[in-house]
Amino acid sequence: MKNILVTGSVGQIGSELTLELRKRYGSDHVVAGIRKTLPEGELKESGPYEVADATDPEQITAVVKKYKIDTIFHLAAILSAVAEKYPQRGWDVGVNGLYNVLEIAREYNCALFFPSSIGAFGPTTPRDNTPQDTIQRPNTMYGVTKVTGELLCDYYYKRFGVDTRGLRYPGIISNVTLPGGGTTDYAVEIFYDAVKHGKYVCPLSKGTFLDMMYMPDAIEAAILLMEADPSRLKHRNAFNVTAMSFDPEILASAIKKHLPGFEMTYDVDPDKQAIADSWPNSMDDSAAREEWGWNPRYDLDSMTTDMIEKIRIKHEKGLY
Ligand code: SER
Repeated sequence: MKNILVTGSVGQIGSELTLELRKRYGSDHVVAGIRKTLPEGELKESGPYEVADATDPEQITAVVKKYKIDTIFHLAAILSAVAEKYPQRGWDVGVNGLYNVLEIAREYNCALFFPSSIGAFGPTTPRDNTPQDTIQRPNTMYGVTKVTGELLCDYYYKRFGVDTRGLRYPGIISNVTLPGGGTTDYAVEIFYDAVKHGKYVCPLSKGTFLDMMYMPDAIEAAILLMEADPSRLKHRNAFNVTAMSFDPEILASAIKKHLPGFEMTYDVDPDKQAIADSWPNSMDDSAAREEWGWNPRYDLDSMTTDMIEKIRIKHEKGLY
């Protein structure tokens, strides 16, 4: 990885991944791809940025040529709850956008990172310890685009030799950029409300178990996979990765250890609940552990401690 483009660089994962890549590979070598505008801040000041909308292949091609890009982290995406509201847009960004980027990767010989998701599974997938290779019949547009993406990435590797690699991310918990319209967002929002208001109204019901991961591990996973020795990779794409699995009650208990007065109530959002109910309770990520050394640093308690510390600082500074 010498010259890197990150699409979706202002998103939840992109904003932190871009900064980390700049630290490791040099600021001038990591281009933040944006769709329209980039707000003032570290991302804008710390390195190059360019308009690179995945649904506009000419824009992406221009950036790839200008910066001699050899690796693309393709993070531009529409999350599950939003894609369910606007399925045509979900398909356009999720599939047509990826197809454009794959074609450019083929033509300009770039490696490509593609984030799939727990959303690539569906109601007929085994729910517990979900295997790496198993039934995938998702019933959401988000899931349809992720399965299509996994297959397309495998195809471009086999047919054209494009160095595609990818992960099935669980819900990602972070404290820099908020996620936008995902089913797992509650596990981020809860921290902001807990610190500021001491209470939270949860849109998913008690007993809804989902895989989760703290952002530093999500970033490490992407970089580690892209740096992995390709001869060890049997799967290449769509590796199950997880760091913890919990339901809202378990998360609320972990928060209460720091904020004893914290109270959670429920107002279940049926749309989000239906999506969550179609996803695994917990995935088996042993293929990632074996093939490229995946090993998360944060569990529920260490993530909770760090989240509360960071969000308290944001709150004290009046940043939200
Ligand atoms: N966090 C994502 C979502 O909820 C799952 O991949 O849409």
